[in-house]
Amino acid sequence: MEKSLNKDILIIPLTQRYDCSSFCCTNAELNEFLKNNALLDQAHMTSRTYLCCWKKQTAGYFTLVADTLEVQAVDQSDTIEGYLYRKYPAIKIARLAVDHSLERNGIGRFILLAAIGKAINVSNDIGCRYITVDSKPESMGFYEKHNFKVVEKYRYSEFPKMYLNMYPIVAAMRPKENLKEFEER
Ligand SMILES: CC(C)(COP(=O)(O)OP(=O)(O)OC[C@H]1O[C@@H](n2cnc3c(N)ncnc32)[C@H](O)[C@@H]1OP(=O)(O)O)[C@@H](O)C(=O)NCCC(=O)NCCS
Repeated sequence: MEKSLNKDILIIPLTQRYDCSSFCCTNAELNEFLKNNALLDQAHMTSRTYLCCWKKQTAGYFTLVADTLEVQAVDQSDTIEGYLYRKYPAIKIARLAVDHSLERNGIGRFILLAAIGKAINVSNDIGCRYITVDSKPESMGFYEKHNFKVVEKYRYSEFPKMYLNMYPIVAAMRPKENLKEFEER
């Protein structure tokens, strides 16, 4: 399916208009959240959910919230020398799931890239350098495949914390002539 995925797949903000009742991933808590809590959380301004629709079906979803990441949690290569605070600003992927009937077709990757794109957009307006996720242990490989790193301190916790440093991605997207100016800011 992956070859034809892009022309049929859409990311849309969750609203009351969409019936997600048939969505079913392998994790009951993630199904419950989408059906019973996502809209309410949105109304309370505590999270934002986006649906991934494929051929009029809810193929998956992700939920974003604001977050912070301890300076000590990130690898030396991802830190900022001389940073003055204890925590970095971040965006958290609070939930991400694909309908089990559609797993392993590239939809998870599509959703993750959409979430990263949204976080990069936020970073244009609000300081924000990392994307975090409290992964399910069985999904760590999925995030590692997309360059997330595990925070060693939490590697063996129930939901190991992982992060992606957006700085190199954003730097690579800048035209070369602007890079020096960008780094000097
Ligand atoms: C984890 C999940 C989102 C992956 O979605 P998916 O649509 O099956 O993933 P994709 O087909 O896009 O896979 C992209 C790549 O990641 C790999 N991958 C997918 N799931 C993986 C896993 N659990 N462990 C290791 N690698 C995984 C795929 O093999 C593929 O690799 P490739 O580039 O070499 O082909 C999905 O299995 C899911 O919803 N699981 C239940 C809920 C969950 O665990 N959510 C994440 C927790 S926060």
